[in-house]
Amino acid sequence: TDRYAVIGNPIAHSKSPLIHAAFARQTGQDIVYDRILGSLTDFAADVRRFFAEGGRGLNVTVPFKEQAYSLVDERSEAAAVAGALNTLIRLPDGQLRGDNTDGIGLVRDLCQNHGFTFRDQRILLVGAGGAARGVLKPLLETGLAHLTVVNRTPSKSLELARLGAAYGPIEGMGFDGLAGRRFDLIINATSAGLAGELPPLPEDCLAPGGWVYDMVYGDQVTPFCRWGRLQGAERSLDGLGMLVEQAAESFWLWRGVRPDTAPVIAELRTQCK
Ligand code: ATR
Repeated sequence: TDRYAVIGNPIAHSKSPLIHAAFARQTGQDIVYDRILGSLTDFAADVRRFFAEGGRGLNVTVPFKEQAYSLVDERSEAAAVAGALNTLIRLPDGQLRGDNTDGIGLVRDLCQNHGFTFRDQRILLVGAGGAARGVLKPLLETGLAHLTVVNRTPSKSLELARLGAAYGPIEGMGFDGLAGRRFDLIINATSAGLAGELPPLPEDCLAPGGWVYDMVYGDQVTPFCRWGRLQGAERSLDGLGMLVEQAAESFWLWRGVRPDTAPVIAELRTQCK
C-alpha cells in the first residue's frame, strides 16, 4: 500500500481524501490517502517527516502552496510560472518534484466536461493572487485569442502579464481598463466571494453567449455564479469540476493511471447541494 496525503491548514474540510479514495476504488490502485494538518511555523518539517516515513506523494493546499515551491529539488514549468505547487512527487532516487495541476484542472473542466472551446476566445481572468497565478500557463496554452488579467491592485495584474507573456497573448489592467471591453469567458480567481462580495466588473463586459466560471465552489450558488446568471451567461459554472480534475491530474502523475472524473464529480455534487 502506497501512502499519499493532502497537507494544509485548516484541512478538516478538504475533499481530496474522498476524491482520491474514489479514484483508487475505480482504478484498483492500492493506496491510502490521508489528511495532514500542516504546522504554520514548520511546514518543511511536516513534509520531511511524511517522506521519511515512506510517503509517495502529497497534495499541498492553502496556505502552503508557495512555501512548498521552495522545498522541492525540481519543478514543472507550470509550477514555475505559478511560483507555487499543489503536487509533490517522490522520485525513484528520493528527490522531490513539484508540479501544479490547478491550471490543467480548470482547462479540462471547461473543455472536456462542459464543451467550452478556447480557440480564438477573449478571456478575462479576475484576480491576480495565488489562485490566478496558479492557472496562468495552461490557460495561455489553450489557443485563446487573448487573456486579460484584471485586478483591484493593478500592479499585480501587470506582474502576471509579465510572467505569462512567454506562453501566450496576455495583458494586465485595473477594473477601469475594462470599459467598453467584452469577453467570451470570465473566470473569477478572486477571494471576494468568500466575504460575500463581488469584484467590481462593469455591467456589459460579458459578450452575448459568454460563459462565467468561478474557481470557488460551495453548498450554495456562489455570488459570482449568481452575477453570471443575472448577466445572461450561457453557462455559470463553479469550481467543483476543477477540484476533481486537478486531483485526477495529480493521481495520473503519481500512479500513471487516469481515473474517470464524471462519477466522482456527480457524487460530490449531490453532497454539495
Ligand atoms: P488566493 O490565493 O485566493 O488567490 P490572494 O493571493 O490573497 O488569495 O489573492 C486574493 C485575490 O482576490 C486578489 O487578486 C485580490 O485583489 P488585490 O490583489 O487587489 O487584493 C482579490 N480580491 C479579494 N477581495 C476582493 C474584492 N472584494 N474585490 C475585488 N478583488 C478582491
